[in-house]
Amino acid sequence: MKGIVLAGGTGSRLYPLTRVTNKHLLPVGRYPMIYHPLVRLRRAGITEVAIVTSPEHMGDVVNLLGSGRRLGVDLTYRVQDEPGGIAQAMALCEAFTGGKSFAVVLGDNILGSDITAEAEAFRDQESGARVLLKEVHDPERYGVPRFENERIAEVIEKPSHPPSSFSVTGIYFYDQQAFDFIRELTPSARGEYEISDVNNRYARLGQLTHGILDGFWGDAGTFDGWDEANVLARDVQYPELDERAH
Ligand code: G1P
Repeated sequence: MKGIVLAGGTGSRLYPLTRVTNKHLLPVGRYPMIYHPLVRLRRAGITEVAIVTSPEHMGDVVNLLGSGRRLGVDLTYRVQDEPGGIAQAMALCEAFTGGKSFAVVLGDNILGSDITAEAEAFRDQESGARVLLKEVHDPERYGVPRFENERIAEVIEKPSHPPSSFSVTGIYFYDQQAFDFIRELTPSARGEYEISDVNNRYARLGQLTHGILDGFWGDAGTFDGWDEANVLARDVQYPELDERAH
């Protein structure tokens, strides 16, 4: 299975920290933010990874990560010319996925445990999509699932009245239908092609499964989230990243 890490966007919710650098290069704990999703993918056996970022920051991202060798991954880069949302960024990787199912992780998602078991659960699933959930105290900040008979019936993006206390985290597994669904999307009120709209297409077809993430989870895309992620990831160390090789 191949992987995609989405590291585009303007980082406007973190201005002015992100005026001259990409959000995903800011520190979280001991590492640049984007190391965290990359390590989790690699530990799940997903080593062929495409990174999508903006033209302004591609140079810095490549300077940091290079071929990916130091992190044990083989990287491909794709440019998202204008920020148009997660689904739009994902669509740039259609050819990269080579007609197979794939994993997507948002570059600002910080995970306290590995996703190996979840990747395996998805591999056992013949088709469709799988999302990972986490119980949170502030679901209105995220995509929130509404359950019917223990399955996700719908994902509501940043609801003012959340139908559950779970967040749909930024770790997703999809089959190739995702790209057809994205072609049919229209931008949301915030002008973005929303990943929740893609997930809802799967949900309507009864093809959306979910798992619950173990360990901590944080979305470092806002000041509160970044602050929280830094506390959670404070002592996270990846021994396989040889200090001298950084
Ligand atoms: C995005 C998704 C949202 C998801 C969140 C997880 O939100 O749109 O559904 O819950 O990532 O990190 P954004 O960070 O773009 O506001």
